[in-house]
Formats: sequence, C-alpha cells, structure tokens
Amino acid sequence: MSQHDPASTTPESGLENLLHETRAFPPSEEFAAQANATAEMYDRAKADREGFWAEQARDLLTWSKDFTEVVDFSGAPVARWFGDGELNAAYNAVDRHVDAGLGDRVALHFEGEPGDTRTLTYADLKEQVSRAANALEALGVKTGDRVAIYLPMIPEAVIAMLACARIGAPHSVIFGGFSAEALHSRINDAEARVVITADGGYRRGKPSALKPAVDDAIAKGTPVEHVLVVERTGQDVAWTEGRDKKWADALAEASPEHTPVPVDAEHPLFILYTSGTTGKPKGILHTTGGYLTQCAFTHKYVFDLKPETDVYWCTADIGWVTGHSYVTYGPLINGATQVIYEGTPDTPDKDRWWEIVEKYKVSILYTAPTAIRTCMKWGAEFPARHDLSSLRVLGSVGEPINPEAWIWYRETIGAGTTPVVDTWWQTETGAIMISPLPGVTAAKPGSAQTPLPGISADVFDEAGRSVPDGDGGYLVLTEPWPAMLRGIWGDPQRFAETYWSRFEGKYFAGDGAKKDEDGDIWLLGRVDDVMNVSGHRLSTTEIESALVSHPIVAEAAVVGAKDDTTGQAVVAFVILRSDALERVDEIGEGEDVVAELRAHVAKEIGPIAKPRSILVVAELPKTRSGKIMRRLLRDIAEGREAGDVTTLADSSVMDKISQGMGK
Ligand code: WTA
Repeated sequence: MSQHDPASTTPESGLENLLHETRAFPPSEEFAAQANATAEMYDRAKADREGFWAEQARDLLTWSKDFTEVVDFSGAPVARWFGDGELNAAYNAVDRHVDAGLGDRVALHFEGEPGDTRTLTYADLKEQVSRAANALEALGVKTGDRVAIYLPMIPEAVIAMLACARIGAPHSVIFGGFSAEALHSRINDAEARVVITADGGYRRGKPSALKPAVDDAIAKGTPVEHVLVVERTGQDVAWTEGRDKKWADALAEASPEHTPVPVDAEHPLFILYTSGTTGKPKGILHTTGGYLTQCAFTHKYVFDLKPETDVYWCTADIGWVTGHSYVTYGPLINGATQVIYEGTPDTPDKDRWWEIVEKYKVSILYTAPTAIRTCMKWGAEFPARHDLSSLRVLGSVGEPINPEAWIWYRETIGAGTTPVVDTWWQTETGAIMISPLPGVTAAKPGSAQTPLPGISADVFDEAGRSVPDGDGGYLVLTEPWPAMLRGIWGDPQRFAETYWSRFEGKYFAGDGAKKDEDGDIWLLGRVDDVMNVSGHRLSTTEIESALVSHPIVAEAAVVGAKDDTTGQAVVAFVILRSDALERVDEIGEGEDVVAELRAHVAKEIGPIAKPRSILVVAELPKTRSGKIMRRLLRDIAEGREAGDVTTLADSSVMDKISQGMGK
C-alpha cells in the first residue's frame, strides 16, 4: 500500500520505555461496586457476539422499526448491521429524552473562550435542532443530500450536525483549522450544496475568521448554492446576496416543530475526511444504526457514565472523529450533561481547563496525550489552583500515551485514585475498540489492553499469523464491528486495497502493536506514511504534494520525527529548483525560504500541517529503485546518526545532508 521504502514501515522504536512498564492499577472496591461494566460482559459477548450487539442496539437506542438481521458480511468488506431496522439519530440524541420527561436536563454547558456561557437543556436542543432542520429543508436540502459544516466549537456545531441527521442528510464536518484549499476539495468530493459556517470563532484571545475561507473555497468552483452563517464574533464578513443567509434569521423564520425522518440503519450518517497514505484525503463513510450503537455502548461502559449525576467533558473539536462520536453522538444518545469549550487551554491562563472542571464539577474528562504532556510541561501549580475532586474517570485518545504522562494524569489530575482509560480507535472504526473497562480492568499505564466485549482484535506478523504473547507486529481487527466504516466516499477500490488486502479479509489498522506476557495490547504508533501530530492525523505524502506545488520546490520528503509534546512533529527536507537557486536575490534564502514554505503548507492544507522544521538539501536519500528512504531522514530529524545506508543508490548523500545540518 505504500510506495516507500519497506524498511521504514516497521513499528516505531521510540517507545522502548513503554515496553518496560510493569505497573498495574486494579480498580478500587468502591468503584467496582458501582461500575456499569462487569467482567461477565466479556463472556456474554464471546458466547454470542451477534446476540450481544443486538441487545446493546435495543437497550441503548430507540428504533422506529425493529431489526431482524444483526450482521451481514456477505458483501465484504462492506458490512450491514441491523440492516432491516429503521431509526433517526437526532430523535435518539434529543427528542426521546424530552419525551421521557428529561427536557429540563442540561445537555450542553457551553463555555466560550472570552468567558461567555450558554446552557442548553434537552428541550432547548430539541427546539434548536428542529428549527435548523426546517431551515435546511427550506433551502432545499433533502434526505441523502450532503451538507458541509465548518464551525468553531460552539453549540451550533452540535445543532447543525443533529439537524442534518434529523433529515437524513449526511454531514461532512471540516475542521476549522483547515484552509480554503482543503475545504474546496472536501466540498467537491462530497458534492455538498449547502455549507454551514460562522463569521469566526475565538482562539487565543482574539476572533479568528472562518467565513473568508468558505468564500475562497466557493470561488474556486463548487456545487454550493447556500451558505448559512452563524454570528459568533460579530466581525465583518463579505456577503453574497441570494447565497448567504444568517443562521439566526433562518432559524427564526423556521417552525420549532419538525418530525425526524426515519432512515434505514445503513443510511449514511456522515462523511469525515482523514489523511491516508496518498495525497488525497479519504472520505470515511459512517452509517446510522451500528455506528450509534457502538458510540452509545462505549460511552456508557468505557466512561462509566451515570447520566443523572455525571458532568462529562470531551475536549475534542467536532472537526475530528472524537468530536463526532464522543461530543455529539455518544453522550447525547446516552442523555448525558456535557461541557463544550470553544478555545485554547491557556487562554487567558494555563489553568483554564481546570477552572472549567471546577466550575461545572466535571466528573469525566476525555482528552489527548499531547494535551496532558503540555499540561505536565506547564506544571502542577495550574491544576493545583482548583478543586478537581469532582473528577472520577479520566480518558485518553489519539496516540500512544507514555507511562509518565499516564501517571501524571492519574496523580495530578485524578488525585491518584481515578481510573484512567487509554482508548484506541480510529476515524475508520467509528468508536472505541480497545480499552480498559473502569471497575473491571487492572489498568497498565501506556496500554490500551483489551478489545472491548464484542470486539475482536489481534496482532499479526508479516505473514498474517497471530503472534504469541510477548511478540509484536501489526494490529488487525478480525471480525466486523457495528461502527466500522462502510467505505471511502466514492472510492470502493481504495477502501478494499487500503484496509483489506494487507491480510486477506482482515482489517489492517495501520498501527504497530505488541502483546505483552498477559496478552494485553500495547499500541506502538503508525506503520505507514501517516503521522500523528498532537493526535491529529497527517499524511506525509499530502504535505510533500503541498510543498512540491510551490514553484521554488523541486522535490520534498516529509517525515514524522519524535516530539516530546506533540508525539510527532512534521520535518520536511526539500530540494529547491535550480532556477530558484539562481534567483536568491528575489526570493531570499535560508529563513525566508523556510518561512515562505511553511506559510505555503498552511495555505494548502491548514496551519496544523505546517512543518516544525524545513531543511533545504541538495539531494535526498533514495534506493536504487528511486524510493525515498524516510527511515534515514527520520534518523537525521531525530538527531541520530543515520542507520544502515547500504541500500542507498549513492551512500554519500547522507553525509552531505548531515554536513548541511552541521552534524
Ligand atoms: C492513533 C482518533 C495509541 C493510532 C480516534 C490510530 C492511538 C490513529 C490511540 C487514529 C491510543 C488513537 N493509543 N494510538 N489510545 N488512539 N491512536 O483517525 O495510530 O484521528 O491509527 O482517530 O491514532 O487517528 P484518528
């Protein structure tokens, strides 16, 4: 699947300390006694996997038409779950709680970065979502039409997603940090005719514009006919009469009554673009019944949710899958009260998150290792300023969590007593797959440990054999699961090739993993050309394409180098075109070129993709067949001597690169 040097596609080796970790933290008796999860769930699911999932689907969701089929994998690799059932996602997330008399329960505590707040009950949410669904229908959106959403972390983000779901119009949320270029390609790939955006959002103490990127994307040519604009910051925006409409006006004109459209369990719920190993992002397709079942199941048992008393906070943006499954769908399906926060953790000060935990008495916190490491770096004095005693479960997602960060999280944030759940999953898996269960599992710092009840995972060697305990290899999912992706939007062949061909008929996750002596799973990072920067997936190839699209760049190679805070950091090696070298007077040199290229990547993809460092080199290390040896570049980027160079076409290249770096 990768056209690069195979030697660079073995599991990352930078996590040795993780593999020497032997501590374990069994659940306390008090926690175990009240936990939602039980050890018997594993046995029940093992004895009858389909029966187990059917029970979950009926227990956790309300179906407008019950199903008789559970899973049908005869059309592999595309599975059908609960195929003849019908339901509506927004009805399940909102209306049924109101119908059950819980309309006054708080659904969302919104905390804006400048300190403004809003509280929405389930009844408020029902009204807003219904009005928004009517507003979309008034713009001609019908069941099956795609709607693009480009919003900051404000309640309207959740409302917009649910409004789409209410009419069976798949949403495609595009992270607010992506550029007009990225927006353009995603809008076109999904053929969205409506975009929901905002004037801007607050980041780091000031308004940051969003609408101009939508205007630019549409100017490049898209099928977009209507743009709904939420007023968040009040900043000036360009306005296209007839196309642009204020969200507030559209909702005010719309009726607060709307009947949710029941859809087939396999009706598309959303498309979410993620980076793959080629330059073109993949539109990961999720459908309704199975996805919602697994979101609700995992949210209830992995976080031990007690909807009457817990206050849950997941810090992810809705632009990522974590925001889909664990902000919008899982928690609301389960009737949870949750916090959403718009801004950065250090605005106005580095204790902002802990202030929020104290203010809302957050009891379940779900965040990413990069954030935990950043807080560690800032120091324990910031959490120490606040009463964090409400916290009772802590979760981690997005990348391997190093044992030091895990321990700090439990000790400093969780008073040394809270369970920490390290949850492994992907955009493609839709919901958590491998994780300890609080109250059941003796947690090991740094290990996601056990496939959840009803989930089957294994570690395979190169030849596709299950490795014995104590060995490492590739993480594989061996049975279909309810929230699995149903494909890549518009590209069934790429779906089959990317995930199902490495080990015939088994799902290849792209992660390296190891089983310890107890058979527990430790994730070791990506084994393909996907980097993980602050828990965000970025493709080396996509950034290389962005660099090469700049007129002064002849060739580029990008690697993910180990970084203490962000997990990995983007490091680029570029060869400039000879005519550019002759024109240094005009284009500057050294720092100017680097600054120019970083800005170019931000424009092509988004600021998150900007390389941490760009090194201008005369040559790149290649094999005789012309493949770039990223492994060697990673050695350089991580400050090591370059490893084995014997397969290089020209072994002096590495010396030249190292000399160029002053090593
Ligand atoms: C990585 C995020 C180790 C992994 C939900 C995966 C993890 C990729 C963990 C998916 C974890 C996620 N331990 N690695 N607990 N969670 N990953 O699609 O490499 O943005 O393949 O989904 O993140 O990233 P994605």
